[in-house]
Amino acid sequence: MRGKASLLGALLLAAITAVPALTAGAGAPAVLKLDDKIESMKRAGVGPVNFPHARHEKLYKCADCHPKIFKEKVNTSDISMKKNMEGKACGTAKCHDSIKAFPLFQCVKCHTNVKAAR
Ligand code: HEC
Ligand code: HEC
Repeated sequence: MRGKASLLGALLLAAITAVPALTAGAGAPAVLKLDDKIESMKRAGVGPVNFPHARHEKLYKCADCHPKIFKEKVNTSDISMKKNMEGKACGTAKCHDSIKAFPLFQCVKCHTNVKAAR
């Protein structure tokens, strides 16, 4: 009897501790609105970026991006098109500078409210 009870206890404990393991790594919302450079974006005729974080989590490891390329707090990393085009931030090697992903000149793929036909 005692053996069965402790086995049940062990199973219960395993079930409870398995829950955080399943949710670990979530951390960020599925889509992040990047708009700390809104003034500059307005001048260029483009709107905020809706960054699909969840989609990127499936393609890369957290450590591919954090903390070296991006900070783990929305709108705190200094992302600019200059950096993107210099091979930093979104334009890092094997990202939006390569055949693996759509290229940087396709503004509408990242920015909302793109005014001109870009
Ligand atoms: C791969 C995604 C991506 C593409 C493609 C892209 N951008 Fe951006 N862009 C960003 C991100 C991310 C930011 C940073 C937004 C923020 O943090 O406010 C940004 C910021 C900007 C800014 C404000 C900062 C700065 O550099 O002055 C402008 C202006 C801008 N983009 C224009 C454009 C234009 C024009 C195009 C097309 C030629 C373009 N972007 C294509 C992702 C992209
Ligand atoms: C392709 C690159 C990339 C990958 C992979 C990635 N992230 Fe992120 N993450 C970002 C970017 C970009 C931001 C926004 C940074 C900014 O705006 O300054 C961000 C933001 C975050 C934030 C802040 C969210 C908020 O609301 O402030 C957390 C937490 C986070 N990531 C955790 C993770 C975890 C955990 C993983 C792995 C499961 C991961 N990230 C994988 C690029 C990535």
